[in-house]
Amino acid sequence: MSSWSVTPVTRLEGRIRVPGDKSVSHRTLMLGAIAEGTTTADGFLASEDCLATLKALAALGVKIDRPTATSVRIEGVGLRGLRGTTAALDMGNAGTAMRLFMGLLSGQSFDATLIGDSSLMRRPMERAAAPLRLMGASIETREGKPPVVIRGGRDLMGIDFDMPVASAQVKSAVMLAGLYARGSTRVTEPAPTRDHTERMLQGFGVDVRREGATVSVHAPAKLAGCHVDIPADFSSAAFFMVAGCLATAGELHLERVGMNPTRTGLLEILLAMGANIEVRDLRTAGPEPTADLIVRPSRLRGIEVRPDWVPLAIDEFPVFFIAAACAEGESLLRGAEELRVKESDRLTVMSAGLTALGVAHELLPDGMRLTGARGEDPVFQSGRIDSHGDHRIAMSFAVASLRATGPIEIDDTANVATSFPGFADLARACGLQLREVT
Ligand code: S3P
Repeated sequence: MSSWSVTPVTRLEGRIRVPGDKSVSHRTLMLGAIAEGTTTADGFLASEDCLATLKALAALGVKIDRPTATSVRIEGVGLRGLRGTTAALDMGNAGTAMRLFMGLLSGQSFDATLIGDSSLMRRPMERAAAPLRLMGASIETREGKPPVVIRGGRDLMGIDFDMPVASAQVKSAVMLAGLYARGSTRVTEPAPTRDHTERMLQGFGVDVRREGATVSVHAPAKLAGCHVDIPADFSSAAFFMVAGCLATAGELHLERVGMNPTRTGLLEILLAMGANIEVRDLRTAGPEPTADLIVRPSRLRGIEVRPDWVPLAIDEFPVFFIAAACAEGESLLRGAEELRVKESDRLTVMSAGLTALGVAHELLPDGMRLTGARGEDPVFQSGRIDSHGDHRIAMSFAVASLRATGPIEIDDTANVATSFPGFADLARACGLQLREVT
């Protein structure tokens, strides 16, 4: 098992670009695969999750080259050009890959089976399977979980779907199936979720419309290959945003960070907590806005997280809890029960980690209440964390080292490569004292 030992430091400094956006990288591969013509992308995230999507598409007959480590060239096969395979498609740790493939594969002429690693095999898939069945898809799960078996050769019909959970993955699965359905497919969200699928489909020339909380896609659809400029992943930048605030000296420059407003909930939260983060050079290149972020040591205040921020910061709550533990006064998160069905049960696993480091808090069914510390004094005792193979838990506790009395040992860190290959090197380059132990 791989582990980290992270020793406290006070100064963080550097100019870095974190790797490409995971959500946009998955979608670039999938949309490029079913487009007519060639799609190219820069800033591609070559992480284990995205490579699982790439390998699955290759198994379905799509030629994908990687001219450089961070670029891809996809020879699109058109909407009806994917070829079946008898081998199960392995999504690894990637929930996004599995749910988006469920939508994409519902409209094919062949059968397909989706499997994943031990974490993914425990995650709920009915949330995507149920609306796809309403469209006419044939999908079986094992008690709601993978393996997911999709039978091909079905005629799909557009639906009007009132989505019960605020999930971009479910919305995207239904929209991808909608490309193969007769008529229009409409999804109404209970709260805004990341809108990369909508933006990117439009970039590939598909007629996608939004009216209030409802997004619709109109078939027959045809995607035209294009170039995608993939921004640095806001969710990866988030660890350095919090780290730069918790440091007591230095300054971090995070370059070309994705600033899609459906992703930047943590920035809103940190700014409301008093974070010293400057947004510079906000610009749009391709479908997604980007900016440079300058992060400086900050005195944070506790916060009650607004309910509408929850889906917009859904992947950032592990590192938010670290920030909240270092913020003066009480912080409260409610309405975030979705955290229990991520790569781990992030409420329980973060609570166990905070307890191991001596941070008093109250674990709630749908969130957490914490009372943070004053000033710049250490907040976390030295201790050992089990990340439960969850990349974002491991990176969050590495950030906690900035306010720790002694080393923090973090176990089961290999899965950091699912979203952020090179995190340890980049963290060290900025001044974190992170040692990898196997
Ligand atoms: C994602 C959507 C989110 C997020 C995940 C990526 C996406 O999941 O947690 O990391 O790319 O659509 P939900 O939509 O299920 O909340």
